[in-house]
Amino acid sequence: MIYYILSVQDFFSRMYVSASAEQTMINRLFDYFLIMCLIIMIIVIVMVVGGSYRYRAKRRPETPEQVSGNKTIEIIWTVVPFLTLAFFFFLTLQIMKKIDRPLENQKNPDIDVIAHQYWWEIKYPAGSVTTANEMVIPSKKPLLIRFTSKDVIHNWWVMELGRKMDAIPGRYNFLWIEADREGTFMGTCGEYCGAQHAWMRIQVLSRDQENFDQWIAEQGKNFEPGNDSVTNAGLKLFTQKTCSNCHSIRGTGAKSDVGPDLTHLMSRKTLASGILANNPRNMRDWIADPQGIKPGSRMPNLMLNQNDLEIIVKLMEELK
Ligand code: CUA
Repeated sequence: MIYYILSVQDFFSRMYVSASAEQTMINRLFDYFLIMCLIIMIIVIVMVVGGSYRYRAKRRPETPEQVSGNKTIEIIWTVVPFLTLAFFFFLTLQIMKKIDRPLENQKNPDIDVIAHQYWWEIKYPAGSVTTANEMVIPSKKPLLIRFTSKDVIHNWWVMELGRKMDAIPGRYNFLWIEADREGTFMGTCGEYCGAQHAWMRIQVLSRDQENFDQWIAEQGKNFEPGNDSVTNAGLKLFTQKTCSNCHSIRGTGAKSDVGPDLTHLMSRKTLASGILANNPRNMRDWIADPQGIKPGSRMPNLMLNQNDLEIIVKLMEELK
């Protein structure tokens, strides 16, 4: 039943890939560190193995000559590590400077990310669009993202796009992202934030500009309830059973932003921040027993009877 978006194997196979100039630079820096470490490791291994062989007891039973104090060696083993570290320090600073593009003053963010226990609210100020957990972006376009949190500290981490960024309650952090190609990039919360920290998954869907514009236009629309009795019964239940205290469906009376905006719920691939694939069966399971599926999540079990549950699921399926 549970749908693992990102298995452990996936996670490691994605660690070294890149979909942005930033992540490519970080990977390159990692390469330099790795090469340096390999060189040091080889030197150490050669000295240990070589020394053990040369001074082995079988060949030289007597204790070899003991050396105490050697200025030349001491200078070498101080200066060489110092220069090595200094080199890497400056290399790191260079790359940090390149990656951290300056904030243009007054520039409003293209996307707002508001972290919650345990999901991501994603807002597009220009399109008056709010969605959750799945961020759609135009590819090959630098985007300024602004992060904050509604509760505790979370951390945005989409490996292929480069840097991580903390989402901290009461303050804004900024990060430029730019995907160099189209695709789906997986991410996760990178700061322990409570019981369901592991299930704060992120998907970044990078699309071409035309596709993105279409998506924004679609997402900007309000829900237009038809006049059929099932939808009306659903909307009534949505208020009666207090769903509307946390969720909003734009175009109806439900306007709360405590939980994810449900206006275009069906356009998302997953439920509950990546724990379930979004289909009617999982939807039913999730509403019937959120604490069984994601213990500690803020979604309460509303104890709906079977009939009400079906009506609510039907309503959710209307939210295209
Ligand atoms: Cu949010 Cu960990």
